[in-house]
Amino acid sequence: MQEYFKAFRIHADKEFKRAGIESLTINDLSPGEVVIKVEYSSVNYKDALAGSGQGRILRASPLNGGIDLAGIVVSSDSDQFKAGQSVLVNGSGLSEVHDGGYSQYARVPADWIVPMPAGLTAKTSMVIGTAGFTAALAIQRLQDNHQTSDQGPMLVTGATGGVGSFALQLLSQLGYEVVAMTRKKDQHDYLYSLGANEIVNSDEVKIDDVSMHKGRWGGAIDNLGGETLAWLTKSVKPWGNIISIGMAGGVNVNTTAMPFILRGVALLGVTSAACPQTLREQVWRKLGDELLPEKLDQVCTAEVNLEKLPEAFSNLLNGKIHGRQIVCL
Ligand SMILES: NC(=O)c1ccc[n+]([C@@H]2O[C@H](COP(=O)([O-])OP(=O)(O)OC[C@H]3O[C@@H](n4cnc5c(N)ncnc54)[C@H](OP(=O)(O)O)[C@@H]3O)[C@@H](O)[C@H]2O)c1
Repeated sequence: MQEYFKAFRIHADKEFKRAGIESLTINDLSPGEVVIKVEYSSVNYKDALAGSGQGRILRASPLNGGIDLAGIVVSSDSDQFKAGQSVLVNGSGLSEVHDGGYSQYARVPADWIVPMPAGLTAKTSMVIGTAGFTAALAIQRLQDNHQTSDQGPMLVTGATGGVGSFALQLLSQLGYEVVAMTRKKDQHDYLYSLGANEIVNSDEVKIDDVSMHKGRWGGAIDNLGGETLAWLTKSVKPWGNIISIGMAGGVNVNTTAMPFILRGVALLGVTSAACPQTLREQVWRKLGDELLPEKLDQVCTAEVNLEKLPEAFSNLLNGKIHGRQIVCL
């Protein structure tokens, strides 16, 4: 196949050089057994860092951006997939070591591919994308570690973001009382519409030398890291779980061992990119079935094309959008 197609390609060796639309052929793509005609991708925090040069995400260069993709198999050298099948890929090395989803075609290893779950389409799966998948993975970890709704309200930080929007609505769907923490005073209606029972402002986070505050949260899903995560370790009630997902607010966490030892608080990590494939497929199957997000239309706040990606990155990094932006190829 020597046809040319469009891709948003990032050149970033030791430092970021440029990113933009280029014409490629299938032979230019990273190797893999399965060629996919990409229909939709999405914009995640990591995509915005990679595509704008504000963060070092690529470990090979050049690469097509986009850590998510969904589309139709065009050709397959693997028995696992056949032409015409609807599939998705999220994380797994896309836009880090392998060409990603901001491209009209992708070529990927068969063992990264998830058959499209019943209940989802290419479009709805990309509204969910890595953000919703990671929120569902976080909830899986909470449940595996016995977090129950009677332990108290769950706090979701960075609540208007992609991960936050899904964490909030999925916890609410599962019957947890949910408190949303946000910087955006103009998005309270959005957060209530997703199921928030209460909203707190990010400036409630107080930095002090106290080892523990009065227990306030049954548990938490944290997108911010840094001072917020340190504060959370001090304010979660006994046996509560904190899921650390992101570090949009900082990397270093200054806390003590006291909450872990005296309250049995658990700090659990989540990594969507390196999620084992069996768990990945299990979580996606749930997202198409018993965990199907009920408010997908509210969460999808923009649909962009490849040309509009730089603007989409800038809007996300500058806190100008809420919810999820999807990319139509
Ligand atoms: N571990 C994993 O596998 C994994 C997977 C996906 C994402 N992540 C990480 O999770 C985080 C959220 O990702 P996302 O795609 O949901 O991004 P997003 O849509 O940009 O959401 C991040 C939210 O965090 C808040 N925020 C951003 N910058 C902030 C700052 N400097 N100080 C305080 N609050 C800030 C904002 O919420 P408010 O305005 O409502 O406060 C923003 O909407 C990112 O750090 C991302 O890298 C990790």
